[in-house]
Amino acid sequence: MRALTLFAVGLLLLSVQAPAGDLTGNWAVRSPRGDGTTRDTYLDVKQEGSRITGSIRVTQFYYKIAESTGTADGFTIVGSMMDGHNERKVTYQIKLVGDELHVATRARAEAPLIEMVAHRAPAGEGALPARIPPPALHKVPDNGLARTPPMGWNSWNKFAGRVDDAAVRGMADAMASNGMKEAGYQYINIDDTWEAGRDAQGNITTNTKFPDMKALADYVHSKGLKIGIYSSPGPNTCAGYEGSYGHEVQDARTYAAWGIDYLKYDWCGARNIYTDEEMQAVYQIMGDALRESGRPILYSLCQYGRADVWKWGAEVGGNAWRTTGDIRDTWESMTRIGFGQDALAPWAKPGHWNDPDMLEIGNGGMTDAEYQTHMSLWAILAAPLLAGNDLRNMTPAVKDILTNRDVIAVNQDPDGTQGKRIAKSGAQGEQEVWTRPLSGGAQAVALFNRAAQATTMTVKWSDLGMPAPPTQARDLWAHRDVPLNGPDYSIEVPAHGVVMLRVTGAAAKR
Ligand code: GLA
Repeated sequence: MRALTLFAVGLLLLSVQAPAGDLTGNWAVRSPRGDGTTRDTYLDVKQEGSRITGSIRVTQFYYKIAESTGTADGFTIVGSMMDGHNERKVTYQIKLVGDELHVATRARAEAPLIEMVAHRAPAGEGALPARIPPPALHKVPDNGLARTPPMGWNSWNKFAGRVDDAAVRGMADAMASNGMKEAGYQYINIDDTWEAGRDAQGNITTNTKFPDMKALADYVHSKGLKIGIYSSPGPNTCAGYEGSYGHEVQDARTYAAWGIDYLKYDWCGARNIYTDEEMQAVYQIMGDALRESGRPILYSLCQYGRADVWKWGAEVGGNAWRTTGDIRDTWESMTRIGFGQDALAPWAKPGHWNDPDMLEIGNGGMTDAEYQTHMSLWAILAAPLLAGNDLRNMTPAVKDILTNRDVIAVNQDPDGTQGKRIAKSGAQGEQEVWTRPLSGGAQAVALFNRAAQATTMTVKWSDLGMPAPPTQARDLWAHRDVPLNGPDYSIEVPAHGVVMLRVTGAAAKR
């Protein structure tokens, strides 16, 4: 009896510590995305008793298995990777069921369990490619583009993975006919998810959403507009599509052959191969490749403002560089980003701009007053103006905000000096005055009210560094000159709103 009990306990322990079957191998979950590509997860694992080692690749992320626990029902494995200076972790439950590996994970701790079935894949498939050492640094010559901040449209904020040829043509049609082109908007930019893979010669190919990129570029050009595209210096983009790693020169030539005018180059999968300290050298590779492609292609860096990119973005041939993580269509996100840009002003200049991310104007998450704040702030910041909404379908108010010529003129001022905050007031500092010096001694003055109630705000002309009060001031949203008398100007500013002036008449000094 005692022996039997011991035997049963032993069996139980065995089943807890070492589930039956050997799941050693390379396993893949391939989920079709509907554009001819698949979203892939790979588990390349080795089982030794109750211990699992190996790697997990989830689209753009490559994790090393750092912990494993045998359970009665399979294993729990924890993958870890360094993303710059931060550790990222994922947890998977895996279980061998016949010829399948049943896999379960959560996007976040509190998110619902996602269950998947993995099948055996050839050894090495999905593995992290070998590291190509980054080149020595040199200065990439200025390409002469973007003398004023780029203006256009980008697909990501509204469409994300749903962008296709028809949508891009629709945006070009809209921009060419709704007044945006006349107001200065020029680029129609396709963000992530256009890629398929590579052909036998290693040329990048498009997925079924973009049957003919050259024809699409021709179409956009026929509307008097320019076209942009997206890639990553890593093996994969953020959405897990094909990146340019090891194919930079070839891809730049392909873009040139298609007639591409703009490239957004997004760090993403490169984080698995390079450190943040190597970013400059890595971005230089594509800077050189674009220069040598034979076509002027605006180069827009996207690495979320890491590694003080503003200090070296121009050196790698960058015309703009993202200064922050991704914007969302909320007041909180837009203001946190926009009002946080003050210290970066010295780094902006013609040809080379700080990019606090694309516009959310018209996407529905903010009020029109808040979108006016968004547009005004991005104008003061000399930021790229890339609309992120559906241009085929906007309210008159949204169109008026995006096409306000006076505010755009501030953004596009030829001197290219980025504005700064000059005053903060209110109990929690909710009122901010920002100014931007403009050509000819004029200044843009924006009175921002971040409070949830309308407030009277005052700007003192002496705070603008003007030797004498201005002789003229125009309200750029009310479209009228404002009366000037005395050393300051007071006006009620709506909740979450802005009053923006252009003042002239006395030479500004800063
Ligand atoms: C990153 C970028 C975004 C967008 C997506 C696409 O998150 O910051 O702007 O390009 O990737 O996957």
